[in-house]
Amino acid sequence: MQLHPAMTGTAILSLLLVLLPSATEAHNITRILAKFPEFSTFNHYLTVTHLAPEINSRETITVCAVDNAAMSDLLSKHLSIYALKNVLSLHILLDYFGAKKLHQITNGTALAATMFQATGSAPGSSGFVTSPILKAARSDSAPRTTPGTTTAVFVKSLQEIPYNISVIQISKILPSAEAEAPTPGPSELNLTGLMSAHGCKVFADTLLASDAEKTFQDNIDGGLTVFCPLDDIFKSFSPKYKNLTADQKLSLLEYHGVPVYQSLSMLKSNNGPMNTLATDGANNFDFTVQNNGEEVTLKTKIVTAKITGTLLDEQPVAVYTIDKVLLPKELFNATEAPTPAPAPAPVAEAPKAKKHPSPPAPDSPAAAPDGDAADQTADSNGSFRFNGGRFVAVVLSLWLGLLLL
Ligand SMILES: *[C@@H]1O[C@H](CO)[C@@H](O)[C@H](O)[C@H]1NC(C)=O
Ligand SMILES: *[C@@H]1O[C@H](CO)[C@@H](O)[C@H](O)[C@H]1NC(C)=O
Ligand SMILES: *[C@@H]1O[C@H](CO)[C@@H](O)[C@H](O)[C@H]1NC(C)=O
Ligand SMILES: *[C@@H]1O[C@H](CO)[C@@H](O)[C@H](O)[C@H]1NC(C)=O
Ligand SMILES: *[C@@H]1O[C@H](CO)[C@@H](O)[C@H](O)[C@H]1NC(C)=O
Ligand SMILES: *[C@@H]1O[C@H](CO)[C@@H](O)[C@H](O)[C@H]1NC(C)=O
Ligand SMILES: *[C@@H]1O[C@H](CO)[C@@H](O)[C@H](O)[C@H]1NC(C)=O
Repeated sequence: MQLHPAMTGTAILSLLLVLLPSATEAHNITRILAKFPEFSTFNHYLTVTHLAPEINSRETITVCAVDNAAMSDLLSKHLSIYALKNVLSLHILLDYFGAKKLHQITNGTALAATMFQATGSAPGSSGFVTSPILKAARSDSAPRTTPGTTTAVFVKSLQEIPYNISVIQISKILPSAEAEAPTPGPSELNLTGLMSAHGCKVFADTLLASDAEKTFQDNIDGGLTVFCPLDDIFKSFSPKYKNLTADQKLSLLEYHGVPVYQSLSMLKSNNGPMNTLATDGANNFDFTVQNNGEEVTLKTKIVTAKITGTLLDEQPVAVYTIDKVLLPKELFNATEAPTPAPAPAPVAEAPKAKKHPSPPAPDSPAAAPDGDAADQTADSNGSFRFNGGRFVAVVLSLWLGLLLL
């Protein structure tokens, strides 16, 4: 049977669709790096610092890995795990840089936004630091590790899944005094001071005037996420707050804390009920996390609050601002009028409440089969190679180009 050339094209395209990883499968950086034993230390610390789930939850990302030798240079500085996380987050670029794109960069340097900026742990109120500059060494020459140079250079591509994740090797750790700066240990963290300085002074002062402050502080080492209502919002809630009994006040405040660390990307991949510091025995005091695109909302039976900002996202503590006071159904009825808490009826969808149970694990995306890296990666020259020859390569580039639109 003679195929029309156009049909041949279609057939090849269909074949490519089948060959490419299925659309529903997300990447798993731990699994990708596990294939390269010389990156085991880097991989280990991505897990220890909780950066691995952050990477997996991003759709477009580049990980600049360093080998075990370069990692041991970093570890010899004996940084705290928190500083180490900052340093490693500087190696995670929030854009796709395959070998091809790196080599297309005309003057050999690229400026990229990093996860360090995205965490809000970078110094300064804006949370921005100088982005790293990647030098793309040409593949026809040896990696440019000129003695004495402080710049890290591109060494090789480890795995590329255009345009979702690119894992490349760079020659050494990107230098950054900001990232390596000692970070305060979590228990030294002044939670109320942080909130007061960033638009949540009324909530912070209310916490300080209550026993809830101690509950929050006690949970810092084990992991804590705080949702603080902005000043004007908590201020207008004050008359209702004053109307609550002492126990109800405590529950209301503790309802704004979750006894686990939840980064924004963890929240984004974690729809469902979440227990709070107020959860105790028969009192559910839970709310539902629901994502709407980039927006994360917290739904109680009474209100739906939106996360409006990040004050701190540094393992083990995250602090976000919200645009509504979270009103638990245990304390308020649907008209938002405070009523004495009736004996709370168990709620079907809520998990069995324990004192400080963990919220459900984030939906685990089906792990991607990494397949044979050679099938789908660009080589370090940046050219795609398929057995089908040049035509297929052109079609593939076009098809990938369309994906970019
Ligand atoms: C990239 O990620 C998106 C969204 O998760 C997915 O639909 C797509 O299939 C992925 N592409 C590849 C090549 O894995
Ligand atoms: C080339 O380098 C200069 C600074 O050295 C920079 O401002 C410019 O954006 C770079 N151009 C490209 C295409 O990367
Ligand atoms: C926390 O910060 C506030 C405001 O900056 C300050 O008044 C308070 O003394 C600090 N608390 C501790 C324990 O350092
Ligand atoms: C305080 O409680 C009383 C009695 O339940 C009620 O009449 C009043 O409206 C409440 N005030 C506010 C501000 O909710
Ligand atoms: C809410 O509580 C108030 C006062 O207790 C009551 O008048 C009102 O009917 C209640 N509303 C609902 C929807 O239960
Ligand atoms: C990623 O891969 C590692 C190692 O294979 C595995 O332990 C982990 O559960 C995977 N993570 C996800 C989210 O599938
Ligand atoms: C780069 O391309 C050249 C010519 O196409 C080829 O000979 C060489 O092997 C390639 N390098 C790598 C690392 O694949």
